[in-house]
Amino acid sequence: MDYKQLIAEAIHNEMNEHLELNEIKHLLEKPKHTDYGDVAFPTFQLAKLFRQNPAQIAQDLASKINSPIIKSSQVVGPYINFFLNKETVSNDILKQVIEQKENYGNQTFGNKGQVPIDMSSPNIAKPMSMGHLRSTVIGNALSNILTKVGFTPIRINHLGDWGTQFGKLMTAYKKWGSEEDVKAEPIKELLRLYVIFHEKAEEDESLEDEGRLWFRKLENGDEEAVALWKWFRDESLKEFEKVYKRLDIEFDSYNGEAFYNDKMDRVVDLLNQHNLLTVDQGAHIVNLDKYDLNPALIKKSDGATLYMTRDLAAALFRKETYDFSQSLYVVGQEQSNHFKQLKAVLKELNFDWAEDIHHIPFGLITKDGKKLSTRKGKVVLLEEVLDEATQQALDQIEAKNPNLPNKERVSEQVGVGAVVFHDLRNDRLNNFDFTIEEVVQFEGETGPYVQYTRARAMSILRKAGVSSFDASGTYALSDDYSWEVIKLLQEYPNTIKRAYDNFEPSIIAKHSLHLASTFNKFYANVRVLDEHEEKDARLALVYAVTEVLKEDLRILGVQAPDEM
Ligand code: ARG
Repeated sequence: MDYKQLIAEAIHNEMNEHLELNEIKHLLEKPKHTDYGDVAFPTFQLAKLFRQNPAQIAQDLASKINSPIIKSSQVVGPYINFFLNKETVSNDILKQVIEQKENYGNQTFGNKGQVPIDMSSPNIAKPMSMGHLRSTVIGNALSNILTKVGFTPIRINHLGDWGTQFGKLMTAYKKWGSEEDVKAEPIKELLRLYVIFHEKAEEDESLEDEGRLWFRKLENGDEEAVALWKWFRDESLKEFEKVYKRLDIEFDSYNGEAFYNDKMDRVVDLLNQHNLLTVDQGAHIVNLDKYDLNPALIKKSDGATLYMTRDLAAALFRKETYDFSQSLYVVGQEQSNHFKQLKAVLKELNFDWAEDIHHIPFGLITKDGKKLSTRKGKVVLLEEVLDEATQQALDQIEAKNPNLPNKERVSEQVGVGAVVFHDLRNDRLNNFDFTIEEVVQFEGETGPYVQYTRARAMSILRKAGVSSFDASGTYALSDDYSWEVIKLLQEYPNTIKRAYDNFEPSIIAKHSLHLASTFNKFYANVRVLDEHEEKDARLALVYAVTEVLKEDLRILGVQAPDEM
């Protein structure tokens, strides 16, 4: 039931010639304070139409409007404030959740359309950083949101597995590396080699030349170069997959930059056909002055292709493979310019779908005030962060609930979930710093708080000995504490829609925090387990909260342990 719709209809019945139903629906507001009812209708528009005083119109109109969903109305100045019939609405909402379970809030407007979503995309031979964590978890949450509104997301890990850095790495490996060391600790060792290369290259310029040479070899399919590249790539992927496994995230495609190696001539040909390439100091570029952007680099003077070239090939490939109506790129805001250039070049190529490419930027993340820089080897290893968080979760469980079964498993769910939730809690564009201690708190605006609230609600149901509810029952609730919870449940479909419209998982995270704290207020004030005529309805409310909190967490990529 869409109660805004019902109220709009009730108003419309009284004035069908003057205002359209949709106009009325649009005018409806949420009162600033709950004392002023649940829905407010301002009469300014009507006042203009009738050339009358708005307060007078509100007075005249209020008594005429009625509907089973409206309990009462009150006129405050130019506003008519409606109080909904709590019993009717709560019964309706609880039945919907009982019937639809985790599908509550699902929408179909995506029409199953495929939406490529470029996410995670770490660079081979480097550790996955906290920055890539952001792309991974934001991308994952957005994919879940896309599914929830009916699209088919295609999760693409556009691995950074091609580029001049591999030439550098091979140079360093040949000079200072050994097979044994790489095998023992691949990422650490490859990172060490990368760091050495940059240190030494500051004094010895010939190293850069050697690096370029190795990359040329790789691009030309030289056997040794390709074997080394493949080996570095396999080892790195194994490490990344450990993290994805802990986050419980899977990809539909691992087509990274290297995948486009044989698809780049076509890009260059297309650009030539459109007379877009100019040569500047030996490099091939696309001038983007008319977009107020720097030129896009397509080929270096030595013929090597670039990040941009591969992204152009990838954009074409995705359009042809997935026939998308939108194509998303979850990448840090420091690459905003790159994506503006990408779109501009596609526009110059007359692809009207360039407009369907959306860069979804996010802010920078630091840990304990430290910025991350791979070059200098100062990098926060994601796995270490997850380990630390899991340990903190375990410590808290030991203190609070030492007899909990499956402690190890639950602390992993809580620790990892805490890091993920923290990342998604704030508007994605915000920069933020974090310390593990604050992230894994069981109180405050944290993932563990939501998980803990839900686990408590589950234990209430266990105590009551109920686990399922009959959708044909009646679940009418009348008190104000339940009402606040019901309103949040009622808003759920709309919350999902807003998260989709804004590509903003924090809207879901905030909904879960709000629902958790509102539920805790309800539980502190309403006696759920006591014998009472509303007992079944109260339990149904508890149940509905466990379902919706679980779904909120699932969308965010956070697990919901039943006990903790
Ligand atoms: N590997 C890149 C980096 O770590 C991110 C790639 C993003 N995706 C893309 N299609 N450009 O900076």
